[in-house]
Amino acid sequence: MTNSPDTLVKEAETSFSDANSLSSLEDAKAKFLGKRGSLTSLLKGLGGLDPDERRKRGAQINLVKQEIEALLERRRKELVQQELSNRLAAEAIDVTLPGRGYGVGGIHPVVKAWQRVESIFRSIGFDVADGPEIENDWTNFTALNNPENHPARSMQDTFYIDMKDEKGLPLLLRTHTSPMQVRYARMHKPPIKVIAPGKTYRVDSDATHSPMFHQVEGLWIGTDISFADLKGVYTHFLREFFETSNLVVRFRPSFFPFTEPSAEIDMMFTEGPNKGNWLEISGAGQVHPTVIRNFGLDPELHIGFAFGSGLERLAMLRYGVTDLRTFFEGDLRFLKQFNK
Ligand code: DAH
Repeated sequence: MTNSPDTLVKEAETSFSDANSLSSLEDAKAKFLGKRGSLTSLLKGLGGLDPDERRKRGAQINLVKQEIEALLERRRKELVQQELSNRLAAEAIDVTLPGRGYGVGGIHPVVKAWQRVESIFRSIGFDVADGPEIENDWTNFTALNNPENHPARSMQDTFYIDMKDEKGLPLLLRTHTSPMQVRYARMHKPPIKVIAPGKTYRVDSDATHSPMFHQVEGLWIGTDISFADLKGVYTHFLREFFETSNLVVRFRPSFFPFTEPSAEIDMMFTEGPNKGNWLEISGAGQVHPTVIRNFGLDPELHIGFAFGSGLERLAMLRYGVTDLRTFFEGDLRFLKQFNK
């Protein structure tokens, strides 16, 4: 590098434009304007000149200094701009990409049916109760007039648990929601008007049975509750549930140990794609005097009805599902259809 003021500007210009970053520009600046830079040593050299010469040379060097500073500033601005656009390019996001969205959960069709059942029965004055899925065999069977060794116990294939409760009673997964009749009635004074939806368990598995399934129990006990009330309540429920008045209901004699008389409730659509077929929809009956006694009530005073319906069955009919197992396979293609 020469120390002549004339070439210094050119040299600085080259050196600055060679600098490709702000930090290398700082290094380049030091070569000219730093303590040991060329311009500084030129200024130092002024001391040896006579006053006239010094003034002239001094003015010339100052001019050069200003030019170099201006060049430096121009290059600095360029580099700042360049670094900014590099960063913008590196951090660019494609705002035209579709968003990832959130995974929104949905309500299971059986739970949807459950919610409908609850709101319909609430609207006609029924309480909604919830109880244990692990039950003792007194509440699940004995209290419901299903004595030990009675063949009716084997109507339900039961999951027993290898444990007893605090009273020494065998424990099992409840085979129906009917024990909730006993639990609720023993804790409330009549009139008793309640439904108890929930999970139930049996050793059973095919296209229409699953080892875990849902039932809704209904119980209405008063001093004058009759089969006519059962028919009125249940028909109203079905018409609300299926949102049509084009359906009829019939009672077919049946047997349950906890009701006498007992009935199967069948329904038939009188219009629409499923019209004309009787469909079995629920068990029901007038609560057996022995069961009323196990409620802690006097069967001479208190009378009423009970029913127990399968929620999957109701959901299948409402949504046109033909295989019960699809409810429990967790296939989102199936489940998504119920949450559009
Ligand atoms: N618990 C019966 C079952 O699971 C259903 C049932 C029938 C419930 C008649 C009732 C009833 O309350 O009165 O098969």
